[in-house]
Amino acid sequence: MKNLIDIYSRKKKDIAAIEKALEESVYTDHAMLRETSNHLLKAGGKRIRPVFVLLSGEFGHYRLETMKCVAVPLELIHMASLVHDDVIDDANTRRGQLTVRSKWDNRIAMFTGDYIFAKALGVITQIHKPAVHQIMSKAIVEMSIGEMEQIRFFFHSEQTIRDYLLRIRRKTALLIAISCKLGAMAADAPDWICNKLYSFGYNIGMTFQIRDDILDLIGTEKQIGKPPGSDVKQGNITLPVLYALQDPSLKPLILAELERIHKLDGQTDVSGFLDMIRNSDGIEKAEALSRKYLDKAIASLDKLPGGQAKKDLIEVAHFIGNRSY
Ligand code: IPE
Ligand code: IPE
Ligand code: MG
Ligand code: MG
Repeated sequence: MKNLIDIYSRKKKDIAAIEKALEESVYTDHAMLRETSNHLLKAGGKRIRPVFVLLSGEFGHYRLETMKCVAVPLELIHMASLVHDDVIDDANTRRGQLTVRSKWDNRIAMFTGDYIFAKALGVITQIHKPAVHQIMSKAIVEMSIGEMEQIRFFFHSEQTIRDYLLRIRRKTALLIAISCKLGAMAADAPDWICNKLYSFGYNIGMTFQIRDDILDLIGTEKQIGKPPGSDVKQGNITLPVLYALQDPSLKPLILAELERIHKLDGQTDVSGFLDMIRNSDGIEKAEALSRKYLDKAIASLDKLPGGQAKKDLIEVAHFIGNRSY
């Protein structure tokens, strides 16, 4: 992924400044919170939301100090939601490292997540625009609903593709949409540009989660930083599986396997299930839908002024569509 590295290197100084600001933002005298937060920060991550903030900010009056106050809270919200998500998913590894819940325990993970959320709110107060705060608050509410819906739909093989899309819109796409929009808003870009960037972010966010769900089925542990099949073990039925269920000859086999996994509470080998989905046309169909969102994302940028930021957004979009980690 040479192009993505190019973008990161063009923004290297600013990304390094955000990294430092992230560290400072979670600093506390409380030893336990400091340890858990540092553990999270050090595990790394793609920092894709900050990258979207920075690139979107280039459509207005770009000031690094202002960008930091938006990029840091968005990455913190993302991190907090992951600590909580790993509790919901009983996940032991993420980014190839132990999760907070597994290194410490679920309660500590819940409070670490709350702490990081609170820190995000503290940093965003430096942006004196009520609309920014409202947009952020709404997105967090939607994320919570998305995660609750995910639990409600665990092992529901009768859910529709629409149920799935609505859920990933909430849990993933909206945060990416607002990363783009708020980056531009904080830089005082015109409204129409902020809205186009929102639409870009929303569509690429859908691609992002569909790709994530495909990777959980076809990726290797080394690529995805956690064992493949984690989604089905916890009962999360994702797009490729919903497509595979549309095949009448496969449906009874998949349903039987889902029932078996459910009965065993996910404590079982799921390689048979993964093979079934990999050999169906579910992956291909999910890739096609992911591609549609990618095309829509790029089309949202059509009318935006050309320049390096626009080129870079297109590159990041392609990276997301093809990513293997
Ligand atoms: C993981 O997000 C959770 C999803 C929304 C799919 P990322 O893939 O952005 O996680 P990191 O920050 O790079 O680890
Ligand atoms: C993303 O969903 C989690 C949030 C948006 C909070 P996943 O459950 O698919 O993320 P991973 O696969 O654990 O990274
Ligand atoms: Mg998860
Ligand atoms: Mg996932």
